[in-house]
Amino acid sequence: MVKTKSSDGIRVSIVLSVVFSTSIAVVLVLGFFSQKIEVFFRFDSGSRGESRVKIAELLAAAPGRDEFRAVISSEFPPRFNSSACTTMPAAARRANNELEQGVARARAAIRKAASITTNSSVITIKNNGDILSSKIYRNPRAFYRSYMEMERRFKIFVYEEGDLPLVHDGPCKDIYSSEGRFIHEMEHGTNRFRTRNAKAAHVYFLPFSVAWMVKYLYNPNTYELTPLKEFVSDYVRLISTKHPFWNRTQGADHFMLSCHDWGPRATQGNPFLYNTSIRVLCNANSSEGFNPQKDVSLPEIHLYGGSINPKLRLPPKPNIARPYLAFFAGGVQAQSGLSFSTIGKAMTMTFNGYEVASPRIVEAIYAECIPVILSDHYVLPFSDVLKWEAFSIQVELYDIPRLKEILMAVSEEKYVELKKGLRSVRRHFVLNQPVDRFDVFHMILHSVWLRRLNLRSVV
Ligand SMILES: *[C@@H]1O[C@H](CO)[C@@H](O)[C@H](O)[C@H]1NC(C)=O
Ligand SMILES: *[C@@H]1O[C@H](CO)[C@@H](O)[C@H](O)[C@H]1NC(C)=O
Ligand SMILES: *[C@@H]1O[C@H](CO)[C@@H](O)[C@H](O)[C@H]1NC(C)=O
Ligand SMILES: *[C@@H]1O[C@H](CO)[C@@H](O)[C@H](O)[C@H]1NC(C)=O
Ligand SMILES: *[C@@H]1O[C@H](CO)[C@@H](O)[C@H](O)[C@H]1NC(C)=O
Repeated sequence: MVKTKSSDGIRVSIVLSVVFSTSIAVVLVLGFFSQKIEVFFRFDSGSRGESRVKIAELLAAAPGRDEFRAVISSEFPPRFNSSACTTMPAAARRANNELEQGVARARAAIRKAASITTNSSVITIKNNGDILSSKIYRNPRAFYRSYMEMERRFKIFVYEEGDLPLVHDGPCKDIYSSEGRFIHEMEHGTNRFRTRNAKAAHVYFLPFSVAWMVKYLYNPNTYELTPLKEFVSDYVRLISTKHPFWNRTQGADHFMLSCHDWGPRATQGNPFLYNTSIRVLCNANSSEGFNPQKDVSLPEIHLYGGSINPKLRLPPKPNIARPYLAFFAGGVQAQSGLSFSTIGKAMTMTFNGYEVASPRIVEAIYAECIPVILSDHYVLPFSDVLKWEAFSIQVELYDIPRLKEILMAVSEEKYVELKKGLRSVRRHFVLNQPVDRFDVFHMILHSVWLRRLNLRSVV
């Protein structure tokens, strides 16, 4: 059953059919057609990789959706002899070399792990009972090695500049909670990644909250984002004059995080932040400047009143009766009203969820309800390590008229496999306090870590 609401508030239900005794969540995140991103790490060849990173550069890798490839496949000549180096004091250079050598060792370890080939598709890590299957992970060994290297080495410096509430805080309730929770964890959490020694850091975090900028700086209904951009611009100016780190890589080893729809626009306040830095964004719209080579897709998690919906906190009971084939959760942008005419007006109105990301995806995962993702421009969270096709169904937008047919064609076996997949990835989408290994906090960090690994220092 696809349930939608028309613009005048009348509920319209399109009954599909009752096939399985379980449901499938249809998550319509974005209504646009375009070619999928096929090439990762196409640095210097497209219009996007334009950023002029002088002392650091992204590794180029074989085309493919696997971000590990950059780490794994590229040749890695140490390049510690450029002229930029001479501006760095000897002690700083030594510290930096040590840091880079650590990163190089991590890369080598990951590459080695990835190169092991056996006929078995499942690896079992015996220490703690973790089972990582190649059905779910693009490269389970590479992921596990990379995760361990991250735990062992990764250090993040959090800038202390800036005042509350715009910096060092963020919303921990409702739809922007991914933003506040992450900032709070970095500022006050017990995780092992934060370092107070800026010289020992691999990446530098700019702990401002775009959601709070919208709350405190934005003049409602004006759609005027200049105050947000100015704030971001001032903040980058502040940290780049007070500290040497930004100028060293023009922001390539710096990251910001936002779950607000306007996160991407706010980062336009500084061209290098936009084009060079790692931006961790819920609004991961690849046709709006989101660059999966360097940016990270952040899952949107809706915390009602500050906590996960109690109904979703525990995995559902195994034999719960689910009478509907599918339910519709999500929105279509009103002005985007393209090509839904075939399925009737019912689908062209708006629910909520105007931007690419939608908390419905994570809710579907919590509820073990297979997400059906109808979106072309959305870069799915953690898609650099997870095979989304192992636990979701992706339907092209032009196939929406055939939605019923497509969902009905999913065999019982396939359905059982997808559910199994959901159960194994669930932990990667769960927010814990305190944080727990492999949970969403660590997965976000791992995405940042991967992008840092793929940054080659040519200092
Ligand atoms: C570093 O030195 C080597 C050999 O002296 C040279 O081939 C290479 O081009 C230099 N690299 C840079 C970035 O200057
Ligand atoms: C692994 O597969 C290859 C080819 O598929 C086969 O030749 C080889 O004998 C297999 N090895 C083992 C240990 O099963
Ligand atoms: C970084 O570069 C900017 C612009 O070129 C300059 O104003 C600033 O002083 C530099 N920062 C440091 C710490 O040298
Ligand atoms: C990012 O780079 C592109 C290509 O060089 C440029 O057109 C654009 O203005 C830059 N973005 C920002 C926000 O400066
Ligand atoms: C995604 O980006 C495209 C291109 O800029 C834009 O037209 C569209 O509105 C964006 N989609 C959403 C849902 O924001």
